[in-house]
Amino acid sequence: MKTTVTEITADVYRISTFHPDFGIQFNQFLVKDDEPFLMHTGFRQMFQLTKAGVGQVIDPAKLRWIGFSHFESDECGALNDWLATAPESQAVCSVVGAMVTINDFAERPARPLADGEVLAIGRHELRFLATPHLPHGWDAGFFFDEVDKTLFCSDLFFQPGEMEPVTTESLVGRAREAIQGNMQGPLALDLPYTPYTDPTLQRLADLSPNTLAVMHGSSFTGDGGSAIQELAVVIKELIGHQS
Ligand SMILES: [Fe+2]
Ligand SMILES: [Fe+2]
Repeated sequence: MKTTVTEITADVYRISTFHPDFGIQFNQFLVKDDEPFLMHTGFRQMFQLTKAGVGQVIDPAKLRWIGFSHFESDECGALNDWLATAPESQAVCSVVGAMVTINDFAERPARPLADGEVLAIGRHELRFLATPHLPHGWDAGFFFDEVDKTLFCSDLFFQPGEMEPVTTESLVGRAREAIQGNMQGPLALDLPYTPYTDPTLQRLADLSPNTLAVMHGSSFTGDGGSAIQELAVVIKELIGHQS
């Protein structure tokens, strides 16, 4: 496996590892700032690759914050490896995530963030949005950099394959194909359609992001608000009508 590092927008580095068994990319995002922030850790078994990628940008021991959307191995499987590597580092996640999982799972307690709370890391200010069950998991949430308007999308806009780091082309068609394709496979039904799904997607769209930092596939630069609204229509059509 090979890891590539690309600055997709100012100070935001996409650390991407393609996993041939899954046929998908696992992308972590490092925000380089006074208090460096890593958005998801990647799998525990990929830790050395991710650490080497981070090491191309900063000293990995200087990492300060480890954010993620929800408790899954690709989101936070290497959390304890990072806590051991970076002595000042701390997980930062939803209140539910900290209470239900992380404060038991992790070697050090997390910093829980309430819905709407802002984590200032230097030039960048990361607002946390608690989004239970979007993309999935009771503990789920999203981070949004209010300064440069980057939304860290976790599993939204999932695209399989080896994709370019960032594109200005719409991701919605690819995301639609991926949702339809996944319906046949072992990863089917990953996205529940709940009473919160559409209002939460609208809330994300209202942030009007300029960059969508996507965990699996290409990231996007452009009108992120419209892209999320278009994705909401696709999700409603493909998943919502079944519920
Ligand atoms: Fe996930
Ligand atoms: Fe993921």
